[in-house]
Amino acid sequence: MTAIARTAATGGALDPRFLRWQTSLPIDRRLLSVDCQGSIAHVEGQRRAGLLSDEEARVLTGALEQLPARVAAGEVTLPEDEEDVHMAIEAWLHAEVGPVASKLHAGRSRNDQVATDLKLWSRDAVATLRATSETLARAAAAWIERHGETAMPAYTHRQVAIPVLARIWIEGGLLDPIARDLELLGAVDRELALSPLGAGAVGGTTLPIDPAVTAAAMGFSGPPRNPIDAVGQRDHALLLVFVCTRAALHLARFSADVVELCADGLFKLGGAIACGSSMMPHKRNPDLFELVRGQAALRQGELVALLTTFHGLGNGYHRDLQQDKQVLFSAVDGLLGCLEMIALGLEHLTPDADACRRSLAMGDAVATDLAEALVAGGMAFRDAYQHVGRLVAGQRARGQRLVDLTAETLAEAGLPASLLTCLDPVESARRRSRRYAR
Ligand code: ARG
Repeated sequence: MTAIARTAATGGALDPRFLRWQTSLPIDRRLLSVDCQGSIAHVEGQRRAGLLSDEEARVLTGALEQLPARVAAGEVTLPEDEEDVHMAIEAWLHAEVGPVASKLHAGRSRNDQVATDLKLWSRDAVATLRATSETLARAAAAWIERHGETAMPAYTHRQVAIPVLARIWIEGGLLDPIARDLELLGAVDRELALSPLGAGAVGGTTLPIDPAVTAAAMGFSGPPRNPIDAVGQRDHALLLVFVCTRAALHLARFSADVVELCADGLFKLGGAIACGSSMMPHKRNPDLFELVRGQAALRQGELVALLTTFHGLGNGYHRDLQQDKQVLFSAVDGLLGCLEMIALGLEHLTPDADACRRSLAMGDAVATDLAEALVAGGMAFRDAYQHVGRLVAGQRARGQRLVDLTAETLAEAGLPASLLTCLDPVESARRRSRRYAR
């Protein structure tokens, strides 16, 4: 271990067991590339402030620019025995470019450095989430092209309720909620606007480095407004994890629908995404959708973990904050995986139009249509509702359904034969869905 963050005042060497336990390197090495980006901006700030010569800045920038690709290519391995990626990079830089590396950290702390890295990482994460959600939206649009006009039951209380077209089901259960989540990512963008760099450990710096210069170099809209807030707040991470949690919940609810519709035999799963049982030879299980449903629980845990991390912490930096990263990374990775899997799942999910038609018939899904037809003919709704209730009970008593009604049965009930035109559930689905055309 190098002794970058140790002085005579810190006292001796760290116990290696403690070092190994407290290092964030296994997790924050993912910040390597944004850390280099932040350091390059800081070098530019120092150069403009006259703290680095053009040549020194060139040497440092050159090494930092190349580092991510060299690590990816396996040409460079970062020192393992450092507290975090920030110190590992600085230690590597010393070995790579010599004493000029000692100038790099002037006017900054790991506190503003890690806050900056996290914002840069989150900015990329938001872009990736947007792109992946849009891919899912395209997959859903393609599904609608293939299956959107199939009539299926909408359920309430897990029972057949009303006929709808499949496009209404997927638009309401998947497309619209995900579109709202995408919109909410705009709020994360706003939280990411200002650069924390220049806030130093917690009170800024006396050096003439202009934080507006470093902010602009990283594409932020401005420098930190307050150094205490800049190093101690993670509001963007909270919001991003919240968006991930809410989107995960939306995908979970959609998945629960799919599991139910498959269990009821109304939707079929392609073999490419169906799992089998190790014992029962006949199974074709919807594990993809069950796993996505289960992932929402993990996102909720992460959101609570992050909220609880801040609870009881005063302002400014505390080492507790180091643990924000694993939660944030896991929330974003987890959601990305689920978005991708649902897009894949849609390619192999097919409604069975005949099974849906049977289910609509067996479930008396047109009952409300009949009541409304009577209302349209001038009857008060409560009277119409009671009439149709009696019709349903009568049909069931003779082992039939509303779709089996005849003109005689209607006449016996004192109801017009015109109701026979309302018995087709597929027609009902079309009529009802027209209003929700896109
Ligand atoms: N590894 C730390 C983190 O990720 C870096 C900041 C350390 N700052 C400090 N004052 N110990 O939060």
